[in-house]
Amino acid sequence: VSKYLFFDDYSEGAHPEILKAINEANAGQQRGYGGDEYCQLAAERIVAELGVSADIHFISGGTQANIVGMSALLRPHHGVIAVASAHIAQHEAGGIEATGHKIIAINSPDGKLTPELVDQGMATHYDEHTVKPRVVFVSQATELGTVYTRQELTTVVDHAHQKGLLVYLDGARLAEACAAMSPATTLADIAQTGVDILYIGGTKNGGLFGEAIAVINAGLREDFRYLMKQRGALMAKARVMGAQFARFFDEDRLWYQLGRVANDNARTLTDGLIAAGYEFVVPTETNQLFPRLPVQTVVRLEKEFGFYRWDSGREDPATIRLVCSWATSAEEIRRFVEATAREVVS
Ligand SMILES: Cc1ncc(COP(=O)(O)O)c(C=O)c1O
Repeated sequence: VSKYLFFDDYSEGAHPEILKAINEANAGQQRGYGGDEYCQLAAERIVAELGVSADIHFISGGTQANIVGMSALLRPHHGVIAVASAHIAQHEAGGIEATGHKIIAINSPDGKLTPELVDQGMATHYDEHTVKPRVVFVSQATELGTVYTRQELTTVVDHAHQKGLLVYLDGARLAEACAAMSPATTLADIAQTGVDILYIGGTKNGGLFGEAIAVINAGLREDFRYLMKQRGALMAKARVMGAQFARFFDEDRLWYQLGRVANDNARTLTDGLIAAGYEFVVPTETNQLFPRLPVQTVVRLEKEFGFYRWDSGREDPATIRLVCSWATSAEEIRRFVEATAREVVS
């Protein structure tokens, strides 16, 4: 019997509507490297959604988006301020550092940066003997599934700009963040916070693959495609991504809907585990959950389900990470909750 996977939000393939859009875009000839009509349409729709002028580029995945994005923002002696738990700091095999840029990692209990934490990053710099911070890297939602409120995000962006820093937003799970933010939040609200570059996640939100980078700051747009090309990120058959993002931001705005469904699934699972008496290391705000369960229970669950342990492996209770998606089965959520509550038979 195969295990049901709560590892991440890309255990499934693409949403059927996305696959249909790719299939429809398959016929006929198109220009390569983003010059096709699907990428053009997707870019127009995203710009309309953002409500500000921006250059839009399509990139295959989040790590690549981050590497290309940083290359547009940093000169050789520049560093990037990020929380220590950020994806670029923890889970990208040193991708940014491999391009010669230091990540100035700052501890944050909830995965968010604040003006004070940005200042901590700034305080590591004195003169030309130290790396010069140039970028503030925020993730929305964060690596812990938490979400900046609009006010918090605006405050960090304003503070960064006051200090002469640029802001890059990793939006791998931006749809889930928009769904969780209150009042109802759109990409236009995110753009209004003043971020310089952001990427709009597709892979984790029902896309087959792909992220859309929006370069909002006009001063950063020049030669962006050269930076992509040098990093192997300018895809010849880019229509595959254009078709997906044109569909995401078609009239029904599927992209927002799928983020909401993922969060709703995570809410159901969270509520079930709370009712079963379990605690969480951070409250569930989006589609990632971090409950603490007795190691004995975790070992038993691992036989039926796939998920990550999220601590050193020595703690009891152990922290695990569960991720729901637009496609998570209600039945499997029920089965998981039931399994946590089951009597241990040894
Ligand atoms: C916040 C965040 N950024 C970036 C990435 C990297 O994406 P990819 O695996 O597509 O390179 C991930 C993937 O898990 C992520 O969670």
